[in-house]
Amino acid sequence: MAEIIDGKMISSQIKEEVKQGAARLKEAGTTVTLAVIQVGSDPASSVYVGNKKKACEYVGFCSLSYELPEETTEEKLLGLVSELNGRADVNGILVQLPLPGHISEDKVIQMISPDKDVDGFHVNNVGRLNVGEEGFVSCTPAGIIQLLKRSGVAIEGRECVVVGRSNIVGKPMAALLLRENGTVTVCHSRTKNLAEVTRRADILVVAIGKPKFITAEYVKDGAVVVDVGIHRNENGKLCGDVDFDSVAPKASHITPVPGGVGPMTIAMLMANCLQSAERAGRRA
Ligand code: GUN
Repeated sequence: MAEIIDGKMISSQIKEEVKQGAARLKEAGTTVTLAVIQVGSDPASSVYVGNKKKACEYVGFCSLSYELPEETTEEKLLGLVSELNGRADVNGILVQLPLPGHISEDKVIQMISPDKDVDGFHVNNVGRLNVGEEGFVSCTPAGIIQLLKRSGVAIEGRECVVVGRSNIVGKPMAALLLRENGTVTVCHSRTKNLAEVTRRADILVVAIGKPKFITAEYVKDGAVVVDVGIHRNENGKLCGDVDFDSVAPKASHITPVPGGVGPMTIAMLMANCLQSAERAGRRA
């Protein structure tokens, strides 16, 4: 039976470390500040935004909250981002996605100063990750690297298979595993013989958005399995992209849903905000 990778515990460790970093900056006169913008009132987004604000409070950051109506124009939103870019007291800017259809998400993301892009979505930061320069890294894949490292899972020289090629998870995940000297394969909806490829993996990261899709036949004996998916079934129970009950007996390590990857995203967002404030301090 696999060892469970405890994302709740590891995310708590990281938040404690961030809290200490924030306290050190506070002594030096800086309060780390994250601006969170939500357009409209999508209930799921409201929950995520609420959790981000709570996490800020927990680690000792200031959070500035902008709740804009659904009909906000793109111009108005771009104006707000631009204003926040210019404020020395703001270290991170997060625009909660998805945005309403009449606003270009890409335009808004690219308007955020790369120095305050704590989501790591700006092309500048994506490029930095890919050429190995310091920048902000997308929180979920960055959190997965922390889960692996802090669970004693070696990456170097191992076969890493990422299922999913989104800009937010799959692609940055592949870049990070490569940076750790893994041998990386990216699979997606057009991959032929998916199970043949995933069975090669020593480390299998699954982000495909299909509940319980990955069953034991996709997994090699002793593999490390990381599940990025989160779904709610008809009884309100949460599950991931991995069929935990069938895969866990075969894996050496596995992340549960809930309590695996999920809690890491916010912890890494907090870590990115702290990093932003520390870098701004060095630039000043
Ligand atoms: N919507 C869902 N996840 C995220 C995230 O990580 N960042 C932002 N900005 N929006 C999201």
